[in-house]
Amino acid sequence: TQARAFAPASVGNIGVGFDLLGHSIEGPRDVATVRRIDAPDVRIRAIRGEVEGVDGIPLEAARNTAGQALIALRDALALPFGLELELDKGIPLGSGLGGSAASCVAALVAANALLDAPLSREVLYGYSLDGEAVASGSRHGDNVAPMLLGGVVLATATRMVALEAPDWLHAVVVHPDQVLETRRARAVLADPYPLSQVVAHGACLALFLTGLQRGDATMIGEGLKDLLVEPRRAPLIPGFARVKQAALDHGALGSSISGAGPSTFAWFASKAAAEAAAPAMRAGFAEAGFAARSYVSPV
Ligand code: HSE
Repeated sequence: TQARAFAPASVGNIGVGFDLLGHSIEGPRDVATVRRIDAPDVRIRAIRGEVEGVDGIPLEAARNTAGQALIALRDALALPFGLELELDKGIPLGSGLGGSAASCVAALVAANALLDAPLSREVLYGYSLDGEAVASGSRHGDNVAPMLLGGVVLATATRMVALEAPDWLHAVVVHPDQVLETRRARAVLADPYPLSQVVAHGACLALFLTGLQRGDATMIGEGLKDLLVEPRRAPLIPGFARVKQAALDHGALGSSISGAGPSTFAWFASKAAAEAAAPAMRAGFAEAGFAARSYVSPV
């Protein structure tokens, strides 16, 4: 009557795929433990973690992303039992690493294991989007989908598509000691975009996806550019320009903001190149006055 599941951190958008593309990373993760209880509701017993801000996360299920997702699941299936959740948070909120999405996915995957007839990952995806909407005000799957499937995933409103990626691809993700709320990072995107920019963006997305499928590093690099969102968000992230430049100076195929930021990522054509670039990328944030951690992960 108890199950435990983890969800990894993820890089949302991958620069060129705003709200559509994401990939999981090895390193930080959230762990959820869920129990069946007799009381007919959803309760949060505890939220623990070394990460900053854990104390401020609401314990009231309806105000918590993971709690909200379990309520939605329990109501939809008319479950005859309640659910009690404990969360061990390893991914900070407001980091751009999918911190709220991971709690939600881990809780759903654990709860799913307690069902008499467990649901498919595709069905869980719908409930994860409900939870993500509570956190960010928008139903987008670029964080939750790669957490559910692993690897690089195309996440639309209705489906998840796992994408092939060459095994030499590696990401560096640098997380500075800054918090940027997703809602704030989305508010700056509201003004219209000129059609010429949208077309140029479409070209990048097409090149990126084709390059991934062909395992063509040059084409991936030509595509991994964020012409729409990054220019508007970059001013919210002190040090971003330096970190990106450091990545490009170290041969990155491309570099951009991870999710809604402030974490910044870059893709490299080998693990060695990624490892060599990571200290320089951290230094970019340090020069702006922010301590930073970095993760090197296969894509
Ligand atoms: N795609 C989302 C964004 C990720 O960039 O706002 C954060 O939830």
